Order: sequence, then structure tokens, then C-alpha cells
Amino acid sequence: MLRPLPSAVKTVGVLGTGVIGGAWALHFLRMGMDVVAYDPGPQAEEKLLAMVDHIWPTMVQLGLREGASPERLRFASSLAQLANSVEVIQESTPENLSAKQALFAELDRLAPPQVVIISSTSGFAMTTMAAQLQQHPERFVVGHPFNPPYLVPFCEVCGGQRTSQEVVDWTTAFYEAIEKKVAKMERELPGFIGNRLQEALWREALHMVANNECSVEDIDKAIAYGPGLRWAIMGHCLTYHLGGGQGGMAHLLDHFEESLKEPWTRLEAPALTPALKEAMVNGCLNQAQGASINDLIRERDDCLIRIMQTLKEYREEKGIQR
Ligand SMILES: NC(=O)c1ccc[n+]([C@@H]2O[C@H](COP(=O)([O-])OP(=O)(O)OC[C@H]3O[C@@H](n4cnc5c(N)ncnc54)[C@H](O)[C@@H]3O)[C@@H](O)[C@H]2O)c1
Repeated sequence: MLRPLPSAVKTVGVLGTGVIGGAWALHFLRMGMDVVAYDPGPQAEEKLLAMVDHIWPTMVQLGLREGASPERLRFASSLAQLANSVEVIQESTPENLSAKQALFAELDRLAPPQVVIISSTSGFAMTTMAAQLQQHPERFVVGHPFNPPYLVPFCEVCGGQRTSQEVVDWTTAFYEAIEKKVAKMERELPGFIGNRLQEALWREALHMVANNECSVEDIDKAIAYGPGLRWAIMGHCLTYHLGGGQGGMAHLLDHFEESLKEPWTRLEAPALTPALKEAMVNGCLNQAQGASINDLIRERDDCLIRIMQTLKEYREEKGIQR
């Protein structure tokens, strides 16, 4: 099979150009690739160009690979044209199982067999999405990013029952070649890793608002100025290892074993009543203090870059490989 080496990919297809597909396009462009995009939505091309225009200064700030240019983006006029002009496709269409199944069946017919097709799905298993594929199910794999993928490095790569190990390995190497930090998953886990963790926190947050236990603002403050700061450095488990003092994780587990049985969390989701929805939306609007979504994207991206640069400089200075 004539697949390019993962580090030699030159042309990437971006299928679906909304929040995630648009952000993937920016990342691939920054990595010096040609990007062919396709999205049948209204004014999709104009919206993508406006997004690239708005966010390109952030790409410049991050540092461009040789040859990187927003000019290397073009829009295909059909799925067939996209499928036949790229080496790999990153699919980011809406999270709708039957729509993804139908789209994958069409793609399987249209794209040459060596083209790897990666889905950004937030939680569907590739075994389910690829269940009806007749021709080359082995080249379909999940590559789940975190928003925005042009900045946040983490991705989960996860095959389905009919995905070949070669494609899982190829996709992992492809992502690593474009500066992603990858968890290559051996088993299909609903929601993968990151979303399972986020979901646990999200459910607890909704319960606290639903029960009038604290404000939306305090929930965000608790993470942004509390554990979230530590999580960006070494994750949850290694942070807790330090919470056990010189005895590390072993001491922490002994110390807090009893309190784990306390009913601190209520992980079943609360009902999303109109009142709870209104409380969440109003809480966020209050916090935004009139800032537009684009203002907040700029703030998030600028701050993420500063945090990431600080961590990178420190790790390089100390030779830390993590
Ligand atoms: N938004 C997030 O934070 C996030 C994070 C990680 C993964 N994801 C996943 O990424 C995928 C896309 O999510 P999003 O938030 O970008 O959605 P979105 O609604 O912003 O964008 C989806 C785009 O797909 C287009 N589309 C619809 N049908 C299409 C088709 N047949 N072919 C090509 N394009 C088509 C739509 O016109 C739209 O522009 C979903 O699977 C989602 O679960 C989202």
C-alpha cells in the first residue's frame, strides 16, 4: 500500500470546516502543509477564510514551519474532489452517528484505499461508525482533538475492531510529526480518556449550580486559579503524588482511603431543566462581561501560548522529557 511516511505527508483533507475542522485546517497550514477543505454548509468557504484570517496572527506568534502559508488552503467543490486530492483526511462533521456512518460509506467508495480517514468524533466508537463499511474499514481511525487543535496538543488515537494496527500506528506517528501529544489507545473506551475526565467535572458542576450551591463564576474560578493551574504542568495523578508528601502516591492513597467513601460527588448527570440551562448561560454571559466570542478566543489563545511557552522553556532548561 502506497501510504506516505507519516512525517512526509504534504496534503491533508479537512472534511467539515466548523469549530474543529477550521481549527485543524489552521494547524495543518502552520505545519507547512497544503490543505484541501470541503463543507457543503451555507457560506462555508467564506466562514473558513474569515476564521483563518482572524487566527493566522496566532499561528505566526506560535511559529510557522518552512513554507507555511494561509495561501495553501483551497476549497474542494465536492467530496469526490477532496477524496482524490489528499493523502489523509481529518473528518470533523457534526456529532451525529447515522450521518457519520453514511458519510464514511461514501468516503470509502470515493477515496483511494491508501488514504487514511481520521475522525474527530468526541465519543463514538470507530467500530460503530465503520460497522457498515464494505471496502476498506481498516483505514478508518479516531483522532480526537481538544479545542482548539491548532493550540492544544493532546489527541487520542483509537481504532475500531476492523481498523488495522498499521493505521493506528501511522496516525499516531503522523500526529507526532506535527507536534501533537498522543495517547495511542489499545482499547475502545466510550468518550476516550480526556472527555471522560472532563465529563466527570462537568456533571459535578451542573449539580452544584442546579442545587444553588455555588455560582458558575466560582466554579470556573476554582479550576482556573486552583487545580487547573497544576494540571497544565503534570496532570492529575502526578500532582496527587506530590499531595502525599515524601510518601508520594502510596501515602496519599492510605491517607485518603476512608474519605473516598464520603459522598462528595454525584456523578449521574442532573436533568438539564430550562432553569438550569438559563443559570448556566447567564453565568457565562456575566463572566464574559460583554466580551464577544472572538474576544474570548483571542484571550484564551494568547494565555494558552504564554503558559505553554513558560512550561516549554522550563522543561528545556532542566532537560525534563515528560
Ligand atoms: N467543538 C468541540 O469542542 C469539539 C472538540 C473535539 C471534537 N469535536 C468533534 O468534532 C466534530 C465537529 O464538531 P464541531 O464542533 O466542529 O461542529 P460544527 O457544527 O462547528 O461544524 C461541523 C461542520 O460540518 C459541516 N458538515 C455537515 N455535514 C457535512 C458533510 N456531509 N460533509 C462535510 N461537512 C459537513 C457543517 O456545515 C459544519 O460546518 C464532531 O464530531 C465533534 O464531536 C468537537
